[in-house]
Amino acid sequence: MNKNVFRNLSYGVYIVSSWDNGRPTGCTANSAMQITSSPATVAVSINHDNYTNGCIKDTGRFAVSILSEKSDPLIIGTFGFYSGKDKDKFADVDYKIVGNMPVVSDSCGYIVCEVIDTMETDTHTVFLGKVTDGDVNGSDTPMTYAYYHNVVKGKSPKNAPTYIEE
Ligand SMILES: Cc1cc2nc3c(=O)[nH]c(=O)nc-3n(C[C@H](O)[C@H](O)[C@H](O)COP(=O)(O)O)c2cc1C
Repeated sequence: MNKNVFRNLSYGVYIVSSWDNGRPTGCTANSAMQITSSPATVAVSINHDNYTNGCIKDTGRFAVSILSEKSDPLIIGTFGFYSGKDKDKFADVDYKIVGNMPVVSDSCGYIVCEVIDTMETDTHTVFLGKVTDGDVNGSDTPMTYAYYHNVVKGKSPKNAPTYIEE
């Protein structure tokens, strides 16, 4: 199998957030997709070892902040290369609370979800979320995963579903 074929699938770059006993937390994710339009449902795939996974399971809720090409790449690093277990990620990143969920201010939109189903793979949980809130923030172009790799020159760690060993 030529794993490079997966690089031809298109994604965005998102912060998937939730609550950790009243403290906001979350992780960078490319794996968000809309599943249905009415009622609107969205799915994300989160590694079992990610702290965010347990927080979503405990609260039954998650939010997706959609990063734009103008979003600070440091946000991707903070949320994608550290664990909320050891770091208060939202301490250095502006956020607002909408629909009772923390969302990153420096984003071009957000979607708030209530978990309605999960599917376990060997490494990741796929959370299916019913959308309870969402809005567009400005008119900046959403960042694609290809833009993150080709323009920002960013990397993806092992826990990303799209990880390819160099
Ligand atoms: C560009 C990018 C995309 C990522 N996509 C995902 C993803 O879709 N699912 C996932 O579980 N981890 C993904 N990750 C990895 C997590 O963000 C990373 O393991 C993070 O440190 C987990 O934080 P946590 O332990 O606080 O949950 C991605 C990381 C980057 C940088």
